[in-house]
Amino acid sequence: MFENNAICKLLNIKYPIFQGGMAWIGTAELASAVSNAGGLGLIGAGHMPPDVLRAEIQKCKGWTDKPFGVNIMLMSPFVKEVMQVVIDERVPVITTGAGNPGEYMPALKEIGTKVIPVVASVALAKRLVRAGADAVIAEGTESGGHIGEITTMALLPQVVDAVDVPVIGAGGIGDSRGMAAAFALGAQAIQMGSRFVLSEECIAHENYKKLVLKAKDRSTVVTGKSLGHPARIIANKLSRKYEEMEAAGASAEELEKLGAGSLHRATHEGDVENGSVMIGEISGMLNDIKPVKQIIEDIVGGLPTVIESIQGNCK
Ligand SMILES: Cc1cc2nc3c(=O)[nH]c(=O)nc-3n(C[C@H](O)[C@H](O)[C@H](O)COP(=O)(O)O)c2cc1C
Repeated sequence: MFENNAICKLLNIKYPIFQGGMAWIGTAELASAVSNAGGLGLIGAGHMPPDVLRAEIQKCKGWTDKPFGVNIMLMSPFVKEVMQVVIDERVPVITTGAGNPGEYMPALKEIGTKVIPVVASVALAKRLVRAGADAVIAEGTESGGHIGEITTMALLPQVVDAVDVPVIGAGGIGDSRGMAAAFALGAQAIQMGSRFVLSEECIAHENYKKLVLKAKDRSTVVTGKSLGHPARIIANKLSRKYEEMEAAGASAEELEKLGAGSLHRATHEGDVENGSVMIGEISGMLNDIKPVKQIIEDIVGGLPTVIESIQGNCK
């Protein structure tokens, strides 16, 4: 299976499954487990200072001999320094969020690092492919974390049609059916975040995982729209306070202050009422915590049955 898959060939991985970079919880523990299971694990650099990222990369190298990557948020105050760390450490793959990694492309290409930006629109996908992206991740608004506005169902085929590099589908994928659907829309790989939050290897606080386990289809809301960086989180005290302040015309500064440190508060301190419990809409379907290897094997193992059932419905 997947011998001819463009992403597996490009990145030298067994299964076309990425674990999305996740600030604070996409650590070496999770990334190495995903890479060891045959997918592509990604360390989420978030706003990590460069020395912390270097230590995380070195841990990951110690725990897996398979390819892994780093997700770099281009709005990080340390972006230049973390790019240098990735180059020094010769990390084989980087994915990027929140912007255009064009200025770093020549240095990354020179050492053979594959650059795969996350995009939420056709225009950005085209621009980044022109700048040299090796593939793009088309991420729909169903996703957990910072999001765009278009659904995976509508965005993915439009990005596939617009670019001539492989496309990875992300947002709302949590099982074999989701993977088959993304492939039907033209993706050559999938990226999941929410499903991997509910893995044994994810270091998120148990309160965080418990709340995600309880989530239903309509449990998430989007905050931060007025600030220009919307994020999908589980509705809680924090999201309600946010909405109240937004409605009362709070300034950007006041809203930023409310959000500052809120993901860490939930992921590490376990305060899931006053912290940001970032998770995707698919969380309503996720009801177990499994080892990463089992998550990946269940999804890949279930694909033939899903494909058969699609064929059956088309007869
Ligand atoms: C807790 C959490 C944190 C995230 N942090 C980041 C991040 O730092 N950088 C990024 O590009 N995407 C981030 N994402 C998005 C994921 O990488 C992934 O694309 C997304 O979760 C896919 O959608 P899904 O949640 O429906 O699987 C985050 C997602 C979650 C759930």
